[in-house]
Parts: sequence; C-alpha cells; structure tokens
Amino acid sequence: MSQQNCYILGIESSCDDTAAAVINNGIILSNVVATQTIHKEYGGVVPELASRAHQQNIVPVVHQALRKANIDKKDLSAIAFTSGPGLMGSLLVGTSFSKSFAFGLGIPLIDVNHMQAHILAHFIKAEGQTAPSFPFLALTISGGHTQIVKVTNYFEMEILGETIDDAVGEAFDKSGKILGLPYPAGPHIDAHAKAGDPHRFSFTKPKVGPLEFSFSGLKTAVLYFIEREVAANPQFISENINDICASLQYTIVDYLMDKIKNAVKKTGIKTVAIGGGVSANSGIRNALKEAESTYGWTTHIPRFEYCTDNAAMIAIVGELKYKQHAFAKNTVVAKARMKL
Ligand code: KG4
Ligand code: ZN
Repeated sequence: MSQQNCYILGIESSCDDTAAAVINNGIILSNVVATQTIHKEYGGVVPELASRAHQQNIVPVVHQALRKANIDKKDLSAIAFTSGPGLMGSLLVGTSFSKSFAFGLGIPLIDVNHMQAHILAHFIKAEGQTAPSFPFLALTISGGHTQIVKVTNYFEMEILGETIDDAVGEAFDKSGKILGLPYPAGPHIDAHAKAGDPHRFSFTKPKVGPLEFSFSGLKTAVLYFIEREVAANPQFISENINDICASLQYTIVDYLMDKIKNAVKKTGIKTVAIGGGVSANSGIRNALKEAESTYGWTTHIPRFEYCTDNAAMIAIVGELKYKQHAFAKNTVVAKARMKL
C-alpha cells in the first residue's frame, strides 16, 4: 500500500478516556471518545475503575471508529497506541488490545508517547488549524502534566521546565473540589470565571525557578482562604463563586503566561503552541491570542477535540512514525513513566 493511502488506527487509554481514531494522509476520518463518568462520584480518577471501564469500552469504541471512518479493519495499514506515560492498569488495556489486534491483522504496531502526541496534535490537518513551523515552544498543560518543551523537529523535543509538584489541571480540579464544584472542575471554573471579576480576590503566584511550575501551594492558599471566609459567612462560596473562579483562573493564566514569556526570552523562539486538556481554557486561549499583537508571537491553539485526551493525536503520531518505518517490536510494553 502506498504511504499516501495508509489508514492508521490510533488507540488511547492512558487515563480515563477510552478513545479510537482513524487517520488518512493527515486527515482524521473518525475520532471517538468514551469518557468515563464513574469517577465523578469520587472527585478524581480511580485507577482500578478506569482499567475496568477501558476493558468494557475498547471494543465498541474501536468498532465505532472504523464504522464512522467507513473502512473495514482489513483496510488498516498499522495500529498506533499510547504506550505511556499514564496509569499502568489503563495503559495495559490499550496496549494488550492493540498488540493482539495488530498481530491478528498481520500489520505493524506503533507505540506512541502520550505527551509527544499532545504536542504533535498540531500537525493534524483540520479547518482552523495550521501546523507550527519548527522550532517552536509547546506548553503542555493537562491533569497530569505541566511542561514547556522546545520542539526542534517531530521527534526532537527538549523539556525546558516542568512542574515540581501538582499539574495545572490538578490545581483547577482540587481548587474546584474545595469550592464544591463537580469533577473535573476545570471547565466549571472556566464557565464561572466568564461572569466574574478577576481582580476581586488575589492569590499569590508560587515562586520557583523561571521555567519551573508549582501548584500545590496555590491549592492550599485557596483552602485557607475559603475556610476563613466561610467561617465569617457560610454563604460566601455561593454568593461569590464567579468572582472566586475568575480571580483563581486569572492567577493561574497569568502564571502560565509568565513562564512562556521566560521561555521565549531564553530561547528567542516566538512560535508558541499549547496542548493538553487545560488548553481548552478560555483564559489561556485569550491571553495567547493577545500575545500575538502585544509581543509579536505566532500562537497555535488546537481545536477543542484535539486538546483533551483523544486518539486523533495518537493516530497523527502513528502516521508520522509509519512514514519513517518506526515500528514497535512485538515485545513492546506499557510504561507508566516515560521521557519525551
Ligand atoms: O489532557 P486531559 O484531558 O487529561 C489528562 O491527560 O490529564 O486534561 C484533563 C484536565 C482536567 O484537569 C480538567 O479539569 C482540565 O483538563 N480542563 C480544563 C478545562 N477543560 C479541561 N481546565 C481549565 N479550563 C478548562 N476549560
Ligand atoms: Zn493528556
């Protein structure tokens, strides 16, 4: 089969989304995600429940992705899957399924690093999305990671700085939990923030190295602030939820922007791309757009469906690796921790 006409199935199961997508020549033909709702009642992802739900979902999700792409499994050229980083039990489901499926079909298997995929999602050909030119800076912000990466080529990436404790998504989710918001709280904080005053309350930005991040102190600051205010007025949260969320989001976005500015200053690279679930946040999206005119940056913000965990990003990496014949051995294993 010519490389132009290859069909790659991407499979993602690193955390709590079971996802499958089919790509053909950079264009996504289907992108199916089954988000596990079971974790909502626990206020966070329960690894044991996540792997069970992946086992339940993986066959129907893959079936649906093939049907939506209007292709038969025999048309597939290769299978790309997330081999890490992530929750081991979750990764094992996608890894074992992909290995068996590829072996059964007699086609190559391609292992994909989840964090590289968040960055390379920018290379999916889609309306309203242009691929960044090399070199560029990638800010990967999710529930599990917060990193600034210098991207020199598709698979030449260097971490310039990362969080020393919590990820930024955790800062949103844990603060939201304190405020009584449902899990994951990021989108709820974002929605409340739109109607609030970002300067009503102030939270101190954690002090660490210029390219490092720290979020655990912020969560504690929110906890003490809320405990103090609620002791004086039990209705404090409900009466001020929009302003609290707007002020918290303002602090987090400003902090992220400080770090990107430091990275631009250090590297001289003015092309900035964001990825990961938190890049769906309207505050960071607006701040980056503003930076285009204020600082002359070129910014790249992925389409919403390619921000949060998805298999389209796994499929694009699969296609890039397929073109290089970078196939996995049949002894490949999932890894909870993995370098870029
Ligand atoms: O990339 P992702 O789907 O999964 C991980 O790999 O972690 O990211 C999920 C994270 C959660 O922490 C969620 O609260 C956050 O992304 N998130 C947001 C928004 N949408 C999702 N955070 C802030 N604002 C949003 N609009
Ligand atoms: Zn992710």
